[in-house]
Amino acid sequence: MTTDGRVLDEVRQGMIPAHIYNDRKIFEKEKATIFSRAWLFVAHESEIPSPGDYVVRRVLEDSFIITRDSKGEIRAMFNMCLHRGMQVCRAEMGNASNFRCPYHGWSYRNDGRIIGLPFHSDAYGGEAGFRKKGQTLLPAPNLASYNGMIFINMDPDAESLEDYLGDFTFYLDYYTKQSADGLEVRGPQRWRVKANWKIGAENFAGDMYHTPQTHTSVVEIGLFREPKAEKRKDGATYWAGKGGGTTYKLPDGSFDERMRYVGYTDEMIERAKATWTDQQQQVIGEDGFMISAASVFPNLSFVHNWPKVEDGDDVLPFISIRMWQPISENETEVLSWFAVDASAPEEYKKNSYKAYLMCFGSTGMFEQDDVENWVSLTNTAAGSMARRLTLNSRMGLLEDGAPVVPQLTGDEFHGPGFAQVGYNEHNQRELLSLWADYLEKPPLTTSSTAVGTDNPEGIRPLAQTNGHCASHTNGTVTV
Ligand code: FES
Ligand SMILES: [Fe+2]
Repeated sequence: MTTDGRVLDEVRQGMIPAHIYNDRKIFEKEKATIFSRAWLFVAHESEIPSPGDYVVRRVLEDSFIITRDSKGEIRAMFNMCLHRGMQVCRAEMGNASNFRCPYHGWSYRNDGRIIGLPFHSDAYGGEAGFRKKGQTLLPAPNLASYNGMIFINMDPDAESLEDYLGDFTFYLDYYTKQSADGLEVRGPQRWRVKANWKIGAENFAGDMYHTPQTHTSVVEIGLFREPKAEKRKDGATYWAGKGGGTTYKLPDGSFDERMRYVGYTDEMIERAKATWTDQQQQVIGEDGFMISAASVFPNLSFVHNWPKVEDGDDVLPFISIRMWQPISENETEVLSWFAVDASAPEEYKKNSYKAYLMCFGSTGMFEQDDVENWVSLTNTAAGSMARRLTLNSRMGLLEDGAPVVPQLTGDEFHGPGFAQVGYNEHNQRELLSLWADYLEKPPLTTSSTAVGTDNPEGIRPLAQTNGHCASHTNGTVTV
């Protein structure tokens, strides 16, 4: 079966053919239509604070060097040498004024320009043979950032990042801008799970329903005050622009009291008040909802939770950013960053990091619980029986499409988009509807950049010689 119209129509109605979670043809289509057109998170600016800092990140199979060049400008360069195509930078992160290819020694400045080409005049006759001037490592087709989060888009004509994110930026600020100083991040931890990339993205977008069951043990040991069944269903889900997430309902109180309830210090609360808009503060202070997990289409997620780190009732919040980097239809590389407000007190940063490690990250307790499910789901979706099963992802809707629980009004929920209290799969449906829309887009047409010449059309065919090799080419020369 392929992603024919029927599959996409079903998905748009909240009916999910089970094989989409482990299907090679669908994965190939996702690569060609989704990952070639959507804005994809690669790094946070705080990972490369100083000139020369870099990290190496992938978009599917493509490796990019994300640098802050010597002038302070952020760049993303395809990590492939312009000579014979070797991967230029082999380290995962560091600081360098230039990168030298290990194969034949071509070197590049940290803005991508070739600066060293061994034996340029002996081997190429200088500029007349190979135009070194103006040649750079291939830049990412499109690069933009929001609150320090750097995104790449493989489509040079893509809509702007802000247009793409749309109203989700309202919610993004809770995670990535808790003060004017923005975020700092640690990590990422990286690991691979034998699960399809969509499952984690869906789970973080809106699956409040799994918490009481999957994470029972975490509740039982008293690590987490909140995820009891009755608590979780009092929360609201929201969807706006390209993303959506879940919230917890907070006890009565003012904005300050509710921020304190989840563990923020008074000085952090003051800075948040100076940074967030009235509306952003109203969601917490008046409506009583605190953001929790979220996803942005296609493969970026966030967590905000507040476990107990020490004995006693005190909780401490942490933020995590994560990316579901697809490896294949049944394998995903997870990148997980700890994120914290850059101006938070050191003690807070230390304890918040502990809270993060305890819950998420490769050894986190929530992580262990979740992944077991996702691997199993992926395996089960591979066989022939899964092709006979269409899953019902219509939680929160009656058969005629009427909502089980009405949408929150603007007075009840001050954030943009669609918000609803209780268990539902609204956000999973939104995410998969976007998935269906992107799968219908035509594949991207790309152009290619010829190396070493300003005028590729002007290059003459290779001359015939009397040499041994040429005498066997029969007039056709390929390079
Ligand atoms: S492939 Fe990089 S210098 Fe030859
Ligand atoms: Fe979970």
